[in-house]
Amino acid sequence: MRIEYRPGNYSDIACDLLAYPVFEEEAEDFAPLEPLDRKVRGAVRKALESGAFKPEPYRTCVLFPGTGLRAARLLLVGAGKKARFNPAVLRNVAGTAVRSARAAACRTMTFICRGEHPAGLGARVAAEGAVYADYDAGLYKTQAPGRRELELLHLAPGAAPGAEGEGAEGVRRGIITGEATNLARTLANEPANILTPECLVERARAIPGLAVHALEREEMEKMGMHALLAVSRGSAEPPRLILLEIPGEKGKRPRRGPLHALVGKGVTFDSGGISLKPGDKMEEMKGDMAGGAAVLGAMAALAQLKPRVPVIGLIPAVENLPGGRATRPGDVVRSYLGKTVEIINTDAEGRLILADALAYARTLGAARLLDIATLTGACMVALGKVNAGMMGTDQKTMDLLRRNCPLTGEGLWQLPMDDAYRHALRSEIADVKNIGERWGGAISAAKFLEEFVEDTPWVHLDIAGMDLETDGRPFACKGATGFGVRTLVNWLE
Ligand code: BES
Ligand code: MN
Ligand code: ZN
Repeated sequence: MRIEYRPGNYSDIACDLLAYPVFEEEAEDFAPLEPLDRKVRGAVRKALESGAFKPEPYRTCVLFPGTGLRAARLLLVGAGKKARFNPAVLRNVAGTAVRSARAAACRTMTFICRGEHPAGLGARVAAEGAVYADYDAGLYKTQAPGRRELELLHLAPGAAPGAEGEGAEGVRRGIITGEATNLARTLANEPANILTPECLVERARAIPGLAVHALEREEMEKMGMHALLAVSRGSAEPPRLILLEIPGEKGKRPRRGPLHALVGKGVTFDSGGISLKPGDKMEEMKGDMAGGAAVLGAMAALAQLKPRVPVIGLIPAVENLPGGRATRPGDVVRSYLGKTVEIINTDAEGRLILADALAYARTLGAARLLDIATLTGACMVALGKVNAGMMGTDQKTMDLLRRNCPLTGEGLWQLPMDDAYRHALRSEIADVKNIGERWGGAISAAKFLEEFVEDTPWVHLDIAGMDLETDGRPFACKGATGFGVRTLVNWLE
């Protein structure tokens, strides 16, 4: 799909389909729709008045407008209430239009970026949503089931016809983040027999503009990363600690400011280990590297978007299986930081690999830490599939991330971090144990991580549940969501 910004008059653009977002208020106050309605001889009014089309979010209706437009068809897309309209809704409306166009076998579409956003922002989120919606999760289908391609998407401004340069730059950035999100989705959708820790390294190496270094088992043994290594012991797949950097360009000033580290949980399959999970839905645990995928996607985007601050990515990549050499409940290991951990439950593995990766990030000079992980079922119980859990010590960054949710479309909700939650992690034999009590499990997992970041400002995103779309949406197919890519990119931008 090619995407072009078209600042002129939309009715002059020849295409198979013109997609026009409609607000709920416009069913009563019709005035903003008059110019379009006149061109199509009252067809829009009829669609609304007859009740054939309700402009609730992401509802659609196809009309055949006759000769008044240079588009063969007109697609009305519900944009919901004006007061609730924000860049995240515009992104999804654009995505809905793309999926409708594909379903209707259209090859060219014009989408109107309605709303009061600056042209650059509107174009960016619409392009992002379009690329996201165009994604297909059928990675291993041998016959493309008559897949219909949208070849060309024209993006036209709505209310604020901005400068052409702004719109085109918005499109460029939207394509970059959209594709980076799709990369993260593909990695999480890949089955664990394909996407091993080593394979993840190869996928990282294939990304233009990233320098990739991967620590192997022997090096990690020498360095004493036994929290991470304990998780991979049961698997025949060797572990990797992947380091991603964006090399400076020759002749350019190095990026200034504190080093930011993005750390993503990369469990390529989580069976639970000796503390084996029940079989139901266990296949979903191929996606237990979604945090790592989000870090890789974000770094891929940032390599092109060139943030002003220095940033590195770290992905501890392991497979968690039971086996003759697997870690047992009750085992004690010494972490990279030096703290000893009593492993009570081998299914609480994410925090073990993150503990070593976070401590390692600090030895690399990181002064700001953010980790992202499908860490606890408890977080899903607390927040459902609407918000990821956000915890940490860097309140300023957490406030910023939360403020930008209407822009990224990725919900975040902060959970408390009282010291009282830590007590459950006290061990009789070691410095800390890897699980607390059942209640508040998302928080005790974060309290465990806090032991290893010490006083470095840190944010933790628990994305369990947010990483997987189980129902399918008008703007997204079922499968991995790429959750976190937009939040991380937005933070560093
Ligand atoms: N990867 C899981 C968490 C998870 C569960 C993510 C469901 C997405 C969907 C994690 O490694 C895990 O198993 N957590 C345990 C922790 C418990 C043993 C303290 C959990 O949530 O049950
Ligand atoms: Mn687990
Ligand atoms: Zn896990």
